[in-house]
Amino acid sequence: MKTAALASLHREHLAALDHAYERVLNEHGYTGVLLYSGHAHEHFGDDQTASFTGYGHFMHWVPLAVIEHSWLLIRPGQRPLLYWHAPQDFWHLPPELPDEPWVKHFTVELTTEPGSPSLPKGRFAVLGDVDSETAAKLGAELNPEALTVALDELRVRKTPYEVACLREANTCAFAGHLAAREAFDAGEAELDIQLAYLAASRQRESAVPYQNIVGINRHAGVLHYQHYDIQPPQNQCSLLVDAGHRYRGYCADITRTWPGRESSEHFSALIEGVSSLQRRLIESLAPGHSYLTMHERMHRELGELLAGHEIVYCSADAAVAQGITRAFCPHGLGHLLGLQVHDVAGRRRADGTPLPAPANHPALRLTRELEAGMVLTVEPGFYVIPMLLAPLHDNATGRDINWALVEELAPHGGIRIEDNVAITPDGHDNLTPGD
Ligand code: GLY
Ligand code: MN
Ligand code: MN
Repeated sequence: MKTAALASLHREHLAALDHAYERVLNEHGYTGVLLYSGHAHEHFGDDQTASFTGYGHFMHWVPLAVIEHSWLLIRPGQRPLLYWHAPQDFWHLPPELPDEPWVKHFTVELTTEPGSPSLPKGRFAVLGDVDSETAAKLGAELNPEALTVALDELRVRKTPYEVACLREANTCAFAGHLAAREAFDAGEAELDIQLAYLAASRQRESAVPYQNIVGINRHAGVLHYQHYDIQPPQNQCSLLVDAGHRYRGYCADITRTWPGRESSEHFSALIEGVSSLQRRLIESLAPGHSYLTMHERMHRELGELLAGHEIVYCSADAAVAQGITRAFCPHGLGHLLGLQVHDVAGRRRADGTPLPAPANHPALRLTRELEAGMVLTVEPGFYVIPMLLAPLHDNATGRDINWALVEELAPHGGIRIEDNVAITPDGHDNLTPGD
């Protein structure tokens, strides 16, 4: 998207936020809310910090993910006041306000020392990674749940600006995925695949929205595999890459799985089976559908895939009922996506308060009815996870599983195919470029 068009969408996004915050603050009886960007924390006993990402509600207004020690004061009917922290520092490059039109939406005060600003008279809340001492000094309520929940809700239905950012994050991430596949085809190690991904998607490792998962062979069956082998594998059965990108704060979260030189035909066919299951699920996305029902449909169709490939000897329904599909796919079908990869407010009661995961789907992060403006992931999977399959081996359920085929598939680890989809008034829009 052209810069001017994005700037115009951003202006509309900020105007919509002005109105929405005014409504929420009035409803909850606050004079205003102070949002804190957050800051990087030092390791214990050390002067080095972990990598840092700003607070989602701060980034909802300010499109920068690594701004620290900055504050944003929102009061109904007044211009947002941005306390921009730019220390006098010759060790580091102080942050500079970008030369972009959105800056004019704010009154900006520069601060050189970390620490909170003072608040005018009234009832204020302060939201973010703030300690109780600072909140007391401000005279503000610290992270009140009802207000946080109401502001979370404003992030559920994305504005056209946010959808444009999520689409751009997907475009960048997808370039990384193409490079990752090339590196795998060239026989490279997990670390080299990760470096190829970062180079092609033009980002440093600390800027990714979550640690990229680059799993070769059995590592593809570790859902959030966190290492990068530095040696290429002897045999090459599979590669699973779950990797994203952050654009103006907004996250992409894409997964692809590829067969390797030593991949079994069964495994390649299963990749196609999971991909086509994913495409069918995406095709049916539209407002009014329950995501919990979509997740249950994923399990039923995964059961059909298992039965069709003779991984189970029972019916699809029996595979679901006995928990076999959950052993092969223990995560949820997907989650909301936005300023956080697992975005806020995926499970809510009718009155808006947070809801726990359903007892029989403990890992499902999104159970809401779909609405236009939501952006979510669709990520069915199939894995051979010994820890989850072993308990089935010696009971009645185990007789329905083709253990010889499971053994053959085990060196491939697993499969996940994940796209990012916006719900539109009459259907959906897949933000992830096609393969
Ligand atoms: N990358 C983490 C997830 O797919 O939820
Ligand atoms: Mn995901
Ligand atoms: Mn993912």
